Amino acid sequence: MLAFIGGTGLTRIPGLNVSERRQVGTRWGKASSDVVFGELAGQPVLFLARHGDPHVLLPHQVNYRANIAALKEAGATAVIAINAVGGISPAADSGVIVVPDQIIDYTHGRDATYFDQGQTPVVHVDFSWPFDAPLRERVVAALKKVDGPYVDGGCYGATQGPRLETAAEIRRLEQDGCTIVGMTGMPEAVLARELALPYAMLSLVVNPAAGKVDREITMAEIEAVIHQGMGKVADALVALLTS
Ligand code: HPA
Repeated sequence: MLAFIGGTGLTRIPGLNVSERRQVGTRWGKASSDVVFGELAGQPVLFLARHGDPHVLLPHQVNYRANIAALKEAGATAVIAINAVGGISPAADSGVIVVPDQIIDYTHGRDATYFDQGQTPVVHVDFSWPFDAPLRERVVAALKKVDGPYVDGGCYGATQGPRLETAAEIRRLEQDGCTIVGMTGMPEAVLARELALPYAMLSLVVNPAAGKVDREITMAEIEAVIHQGMGKVADALVALLTS
């Protein structure tokens, strides 16, 4: 069963027919929200609101381990993560949906592994290709079917937040090869890998990253793009389920 993790602007999926909300306990603590069981486009799916429902948790306060474990426990066999990001490369303009194929982790102090419980032998998962290729292809095929611009591929730079970056930090990320920047991609992606859950991301660009335009980045600007763009994301999820 496919699971969706909704980020900022996607606390609920429009069109999702909810049958049950279940608080799933995990040994890692409480997930951000109940796991929602429902049907989207006639298919059974799971949904979890990353920042809580209502949105109260900042990116560094999210219990990523509990979230991924709760979805697995609830029967997820793959995870599609949705997030709002800043655009670094020219192609990642506001309103564009990016399906990244790489990630760089700049976060710190987050619980980023399930394998720190004294397991022997120690576990180091392969993470060369952080996103599941077949799942990514399904996402890209779905985006082809809905209106609006998307980019197949790119590198997601995961920053600590909750503040936005400085212009110099974005210059560094750009030199590192990042094309978009967000605060929640890690450790979520690696935890899914550790639990052997195929994972792909749909990142909606909601603002130019710091220093990319000569003005302040405002929440009002971000919210306006989110409002429009998340509708398109929901359309893509329906297209994915019906193909
Ligand atoms: N930086 C980091 N995270 C973000 C941004 C950004 O510019 N926009 C939305 N999430």
